[in-house]
Amino acid sequence: MTSALEEALLAAIRTIPDYPRPGILFRDITTLLGNARAFRRAVDELVHPYAGSKIDKIAGIEARGFILGGAVAHQLSAGFIPIRKKGKLPHETVRVAYSLEYGLDEMEMHVDAVSAGEKVILVDDLIATGGTAEAAVRLLRQMGAEIVAACFVIDLPDLGGRARLEALGVEVRTLIA
Ligand code: PRP
Ligand code: ADE
Repeated sequence: MTSALEEALLAAIRTIPDYPRPGILFRDITTLLGNARAFRRAVDELVHPYAGSKIDKIAGIEARGFILGGAVAHQLSAGFIPIRKKGKLPHETVRVAYSLEYGLDEMEMHVDAVSAGEKVILVDDLIATGGTAEAAVRLLRQMGAEIVAACFVIDLPDLGGRARLEALGVEVRTLIA
């Protein structure tokens, strides 16, 4: 059964067919972000299991994960780690290659963005194949982070991302499918 919150979030997301490639149904969260109530409800729902827990940092994945992750970090009084597409970070980085539903890319994180043993929650808008999130998990673990959970507003379950992260021992939370 779909909850009132799920209905509201589903209604706030727009679907664009054939973007950025023919055959892709692009789930566009800009309409959710532009809707003050839906944006707040999504962030509150991402945050609430961790309220009162000691979370050191939120890692947000460029670009849409920065918007949601920044808001979650503020609510949890946690630091923020930007995980970026290659070539955007100015200091020394760790880098991994990954594949997407519609292409290939590399992502990076500053080597000093997280210390060994820090508790980190990974945040992004959407999990599809899980390739992007898996790459972020690998970067964070390479530097010794403890990944408490990976949280997404949208799950595209047919693409298997949740199972892929769970196979790495990562707890996955999603708000809508
Ligand atoms: C989208 C989305 C996730 C990723 C999910 O980002 O925001 O980060 O794809 O796909 P996956 O689970 O198959 O890896 P995109 O790479 O389109 O970048 P953007 O946020 O910069 O638009
Ligand atoms: N990232 C990967 N697949 C996507 C989709 N179908 N819609 C929005 N972002 C995506």
